[in-house]
Amino acid sequence: MASDLPYVKVIQVIHTIKPSTTSNIIKSRMDEKIEGLPHEVEKAYRRIQQHILKTPLMYSKYLSLDSGAEVYLKLENEQITGSCKLRGAFNKMLMIMDEDPEELKPGVIAASSGNHGIACVHAANVFKCSVEIFGQNSMSQSKVDALQQLYGAKVTKHGNDCVEAEIKARNTAKERNQLFISPYNDWDVMAGQGTVGYEIYNELSDVDCVFVSVGGGGIISGIAVYLKSKNSKIKVIGCQASNSRTMYESMMAGHLVNGFCYDTISDGTAGDVEEGSVSKPLDYNTYFRVRFHKTTHFEIGFNCKF
Ligand SMILES: Cc1ncc(COP(=O)(O)O)c(C=O)c1O
Repeated sequence: MASDLPYVKVIQVIHTIKPSTTSNIIKSRMDEKIEGLPHEVEKAYRRIQQHILKTPLMYSKYLSLDSGAEVYLKLENEQITGSCKLRGAFNKMLMIMDEDPEELKPGVIAASSGNHGIACVHAANVFKCSVEIFGQNSMSQSKVDALQQLYGAKVTKHGNDCVEAEIKARNTAKERNQLFISPYNDWDVMAGQGTVGYEIYNELSDVDCVFVSVGGGGIISGIAVYLKSKNSKIKVIGCQASNSRTMYESMMAGHLVNGFCYDTISDGTAGDVEEGSVSKPLDYNTYFRVRFHKTTHFEIGFNCKF
């Protein structure tokens, strides 16, 4: 999620969302899923442990001096496939392997601008099943090349936004009876990404504040729900590039607002969010606060592997 480039600083504190009371809320399936998520994160960690790297939590002297805080970087850019997306992909596929391995046989379909795709291909190679990746038309050539040449995946481009690619991928998987793995709109994927929070907490249990890059919101949801279950005082801050800030705008509006997507070098976090996604942190404000910042796309560039 972050590399130790010399200068990263959040520039604009926009808003704090107040939590609503839980007392009069009728328990929904969503509520139950969220309540069960910390346990699912721990189960996910045991499941995926042998397939992933426990990435370093590195003290950054530069950022600490610059900010006056003790700053650590969780180096998920050193993860086997270059991002924490591998955790979600492995968790999903290992769960399917446990439940019904036949489901993987026809191959897997994933939608991704890159990192989730690479993660799915890597995991699928372990289980010897084929993968087709759907990416939006503007998907960077370096990522297409990496998927095709390094990992031997089939890549299909579709649509002008990642949501269009996601819907196409989901429908294609349904037609062909294949497994679709969403990059963020999936509880099992989210639990896998939450293992980043598990590792952080186990190494630095007195952490005060965690900054997480946000696209569709799967990573921050998994991490935030886990950390808050351990210590509700830990602040979790979502960061989005100003030029692609759907989740930020949605948090401000209190409902999903798509359409704030312009060019950004942070292509891993760019794009709209699928309608009805289970990853919306706004729903989690019922339980705790998630604060959001928007940053210039130069500053959030540290989230990019490339
Ligand atoms: C490095 C990196 N950080 C953050 C994200 C955003 O993840 P999410 O869509 O779960 O918010 C992505 C998405 O691919 C990513 O690759």
